[in-house]
Amino acid sequence: MTEPTPHADPYALFAAWMAEAEAAEPNDPNAMCLATSTPDGFPSARMVLLKGVDARGFVFFTNHNSRKGGQLFANPRAALNFHWKTLRRVVRVEGDVEEVSAAESDEYYASRPRLSRLGAWASLQSSSLGSRAELEAALAEAEARFPGPDVPRPPHWGGFRVVPRRIEFWRDMPFRLHDRRVFHAQPDGSWTSETLYP
Ligand SMILES: Cc1cc2nc3c(=O)[nH]c(=O)nc-3n(C[C@H](O)[C@H](O)[C@H](O)COP(=O)(O)O)c2cc1C
Repeated sequence: MTEPTPHADPYALFAAWMAEAEAAEPNDPNAMCLATSTPDGFPSARMVLLKGVDARGFVFFTNHNSRKGGQLFANPRAALNFHWKTLRRVVRVEGDVEEVSAAESDEYYASRPRLSRLGAWASLQSSSLGSRAELEAALAEAEARFPGPDVPRPPHWGGFRVVPRRIEFWRDMPFRLHDRRVFHAQPDGSWTSETLYP
């Protein structure tokens, strides 16, 4: 059995694992399952892309009027799950959720392809869509409204940051005797960690 995961700082360990995932995974190593909860307490999960991580937390972008957006404004707590199948590794994050600053959302939005930016105007994400033609018409409308290269960020589109209380690193080991290391955020900003039974 190899030594347990040695790092003291979960963000350094996450960066190391993400770098390996970027080299090993054929598609979307930054894809993560985002779990929220409905107002009546049912779990609700979907995939999103990690677009930033630093000592403040894990950032993704979405439509604030989407189902997940409504859920997060009502209950700003979430869990994330990365599963890197090739590496047989998982990272689990649980924590509180905050909106990222307008400047951060603007910066990421500006980096997106023009059609993706127009799509953010056209899509009433998670609302009922009558037909594909309706979506195409909304996209054409957005194109007519913003014909030049500058497509402003819609007010209902931006980033959320999951600020972790807990981060777990899971590695597959022989005979299902997996290696699990969990880090707990402390009030002073430091971390404690422990190993869990598989
Ligand atoms: C790999 C992958 C990455 C995705 N990334 C995002 C994302 O970053 N933001 C987003 O709003 N939706 C993303 N989606 C679409 C979501 O999974 C989901 O369909 C959409 O956000 C609506 O979810 P909701 O109705 O729960 O709000 C992604 C889907 C996949 C499969």
